[in-house]
Amino acid sequence: MPITYVPETRTFFLDTENTSLVFGLYDHDYIHSQYWGRRIHHADLSRLLRVCASGFSPNYPGAPDREHSLDLLPTEYPVYGGGDYRSPALQVEFPDGSRLLDLKYKSHAILDGKPALPGLPHLDGADCTLELTLCDEYSGLEAVVCYSLFEKQDVIARSARILNKTGAPLTVTRALSASVDLPRADLEMIGLYGTHIRERQLDRTPLRHGIQSVESRRGASSHQHNPFAALAAKDTTEQAGEVYAATLIYSGNFVISAEVDCFNSTRFQLGINPFDFSWRLEPDEAFVTPEAVLTYTDRGLNRMSQNFHNVFKHHLGHTEIRNKPRPIVINNWEATYFDFDEEKLFGIIDCCKGLGIDTFVLDDGWFGQRNNDCCSLGDWVVNTGKLPRGLDSIIERCEQNGLSFGLWFEPEMVSEDSDLYRAHPDWAIHKEGRPFCTGRSQLVLDLANPAVLEYLKKALSAILGSHRISYVKWDMNRHITDAYSAALPACRQPEIYHRYMLNLYALLDFLNREFPHVTIEGCSGGGGRFDAGMLYYMPQTWTSDDSDAIERLKIQYGTSLVYPPQCMTAHISASPNHQMNRVTPYVTRARVAMSASFGYELNPLHLTDEERAEIRNQTALYKRIAPLVVEGDFYRLISPFEADGCAWMFVSPDRRRAFAIYVQKLSKPAWPQDRLRLQGLDPDARYRIEELDGVFYGDELMYAGLALPRLFDFESVSYTLERLD
Ligand code: DGJ
Repeated sequence: MPITYVPETRTFFLDTENTSLVFGLYDHDYIHSQYWGRRIHHADLSRLLRVCASGFSPNYPGAPDREHSLDLLPTEYPVYGGGDYRSPALQVEFPDGSRLLDLKYKSHAILDGKPALPGLPHLDGADCTLELTLCDEYSGLEAVVCYSLFEKQDVIARSARILNKTGAPLTVTRALSASVDLPRADLEMIGLYGTHIRERQLDRTPLRHGIQSVESRRGASSHQHNPFAALAAKDTTEQAGEVYAATLIYSGNFVISAEVDCFNSTRFQLGINPFDFSWRLEPDEAFVTPEAVLTYTDRGLNRMSQNFHNVFKHHLGHTEIRNKPRPIVINNWEATYFDFDEEKLFGIIDCCKGLGIDTFVLDDGWFGQRNNDCCSLGDWVVNTGKLPRGLDSIIERCEQNGLSFGLWFEPEMVSEDSDLYRAHPDWAIHKEGRPFCTGRSQLVLDLANPAVLEYLKKALSAILGSHRISYVKWDMNRHITDAYSAALPACRQPEIYHRYMLNLYALLDFLNREFPHVTIEGCSGGGGRFDAGMLYYMPQTWTSDDSDAIERLKIQYGTSLVYPPQCMTAHISASPNHQMNRVTPYVTRARVAMSASFGYELNPLHLTDEERAEIRNQTALYKRIAPLVVEGDFYRLISPFEADGCAWMFVSPDRRRAFAIYVQKLSKPAWPQDRLRLQGLDPDARYRIEELDGVFYGDELMYAGLALPRLFDFESVSYTLERLD
């Protein structure tokens, strides 16, 4: 059993294939974190605890001497009120105004597998789970801190359940999913920051004393900071070195912080952002935090990513398509924007016949009076001005040309100029009578209101249930402001963000169950909600509204730190590119887009005959390499954040097949003798490289490398490998 409790030393050992997490009970049954790192024997690690009195570190009630202070104790689920001045994981407020807590061990249970998290997306199929029940004896409040182990992936999922056993209502003001105390201050924090059309750029800075954090206060995980952070040793590279990393299976306001204290220990925490949050808990009710996913490795950042990828590929999401190649899509957004009618769409659809494309997705503009982005969100009925014969004629045309049909929605939004808003102004998030913000001329529907949830279930089912739709693109084009719900009482207003999320998850869960054959692609102005919470219901996300292949190198590279490549949608778009005005070779655009869930975002009628013919080769190649994108191990080879080029590769789990690309950003004047060293191959095997029509040893390719050809701006090469023996 990977979870062991040793009663003699009162120590818990949580072992995965390559890591150990160890904590024990200390003095008055406080939890003492002892170790997280490379797998070790079950030694007595309580010997590691420094015991020396420190001025201004208070002694808790009943402490045996001045050396015993929670301020000095590394712990697993810290609270406020007992002399630990670092950031707590839990804060509450009792009816008498007291906010004091003192959590001690009460009991524990070791379970096979893993209980579901009610109403929240979560990993499934863990090997086993430890539930540690902590209790505040004075009030009766309990916190059940859960650890689920995924042995093979070296991943531990953590969440907490706050149980109000106090007999009176209380308010939770902070309830994080995980807290880890590391006995070191020499780490660097790696995060993914960005903006619309420039998501998930890599950030790496040394920790300093004090708190550093990434967070969202926008009601969505956001373009600005992704819910992920890694703490890496200074010398950690892609291929070697220590890294502790965490991400959250949640799509709303989050915080991830690292607090380096005066004793040089680092508290690493993550969970729902306490900013503008509280939750009233009636007697006997429970508050369940979202799930945090933690991994440690001493084999570098690429291994960290593979741990996340493997656990998400095999244990996240209940959709049928989780581990299958995705359809090759053509989307009409950059081809037409709002300017389309039936005839124009027919032209595009007809032109796709025989090209190997699987699905035509009709983007924004098909409903209400929607001819621009100022109206009609919420009115999910066909825009008969543009499509007089409804969606059916488009669907039939797709089917005649061998395509399935997909449709764009932005369900969480409402335009002021819409029938829905005119009928239910109180369904939008804002405060009646007070001027409010708009974003892209729209408001956010108040999903904290159950009536809105019911409306959306009906409106979406009406369309999905009456048409042959196999794919939905689910967009979300602004963040929450004016956070006020007309449906909530005053004391519950700070619950709005989390209630919104819970009902959004309920809506997606409903649709996944009602329409299991429909693949939902997430989108939020591109990659503004690229998080594991969304991926649970929507197995892929439009990675960015920047479809330029060169910009996408950084965006896709950054995204791959946490998320498997098949979760990213990437399309070949027109050249010059609409966002960057950059001209890039068609084949480079194809190679970058094929490194993900692939498709087209252009008007095929505008392509030359050769380019159209080339689509046939691209789709045929993609169908060959798609299993690698889905099941393969992903290796980042050259970082576009550090070099003039970018390279990555996929290797099949049996190491028989591989696909690698190298893309030149700006070319160099004096041609250096650059080599590309591959990874993940069998060193003793021989591989045929299709593009070079040559045979190479695995060790040769990994250690000596391939000589890169001379490449000019934005040119690229690909290597398709097949093992010979
Ligand atoms: C933003 C998305 O990211 C685009 O792909 C497109 O769907 C537009 N919204 C439509 O309004």
